[in-house]
Amino acid sequence: MLFSTQIGTDIQAAARLLQVGQLVAIPTETVYGLAGNALDEKAVTDIFSVKKRPSFDPLIIHLAQPALMERWAVAVPEPLRVLAAAFMPGPLTLLLDKKNSIPDLVTSGSPLVAIRVPSHPMAQALLALLDFPLAAPSANPFGYISPTTAGHVQRQLGGSIPYILDGGPCHVGLESTIVGLYEGQITVFRKGGLSVEAIENLIGPVAVREHSSSNPQAPGMLKSHYAPRKPLILGTLDQLQANHTSKRVGVLAFSSPLPGVPIEHQRVLSATADLHEAARQLFAAMRYLDEQELDVILAELVPETGLGLAINDRLRRAAAQPD
Ligand code: TXA
Ligand code: MG
Repeated sequence: MLFSTQIGTDIQAAARLLQVGQLVAIPTETVYGLAGNALDEKAVTDIFSVKKRPSFDPLIIHLAQPALMERWAVAVPEPLRVLAAAFMPGPLTLLLDKKNSIPDLVTSGSPLVAIRVPSHPMAQALLALLDFPLAAPSANPFGYISPTTAGHVQRQLGGSIPYILDGGPCHVGLESTIVGLYEGQITVFRKGGLSVEAIENLIGPVAVREHSSSNPQAPGMLKSHYAPRKPLILGTLDQLQANHTSKRVGVLAFSSPLPGVPIEHQRVLSATADLHEAARQLFAAMRYLDEQELDVILAELVPETGLGLAINDRLRRAAAQPD
């Protein structure tokens, strides 16, 4: 279906569209989501088709408050309850045994449902108006970089949805951290906007499972995800530059630009080497460089601490070739 997509801040209008089964792009603190009524199979089917997402890759459902989790999940095991109490609303998604009220389409047939409570005030206000959960993947075409502004969504999904709720640039800038139980252990399935460090400071050591398409617990976490269209090469910037003298290079730097490359072909994630700021800037920086007339993007990893683990995960995925 073709729409003339509106961008605005009308939460009531967004709610009305969702109530009649339409899709709306919504701001969250992590990234923008492509939202629809999780209980409406037609809306859920539309999400998959607008995103061009394979039906085996399940969707996260979004709730107004953690207290509502028990309506859609059989139980919240004690250690996950502790995380929910500390970090919801926020950039945390829990994998829980689902109740039958959640359509199998949402979870791609898995007995687990992924649940998250976004903290963005507009997402909160919207969810409070609705009596159903919102299924919402990131509002990008499957495999591309997640959007962190309404403009990012418009550039890719404009014309395929009626409304984009504009909540400004996302504060966290990385997708939520996905946590569940695996062989009885608390396990991080996707590193994200809540650092593993913050989780471990609260509950002690947790397992981290590298995601890949062969990981049955996290079917959608393909290796070459979050990828720009241009090749992105990771390494030490000045060495990479020396190896690419005949190419038009873009540079994705952590805290200082690379001498000898025009500044408009560079993005510095945080001049003060702040990992929260770097996370907030990462996807917009990748998109910016992807849109310039360049042959290749040269990028460096950030310090492997705190949010740096999730930033580096996204950089490695962006650099990976499809399996
Ligand atoms: O921050 C976020 O999580 C954003 C915002 C919009 O909430 N959403 C997001 O959704 O990143 P998406 O669909 O782009 O990524 C969700 C990931 C997918 O890789 C999917 O495979 C995994 O979560 N997932 C969802 N439900 C699952 C389930 N039942 N079991 C295992 N993995 C699941
Ligand atoms: Mg996504």
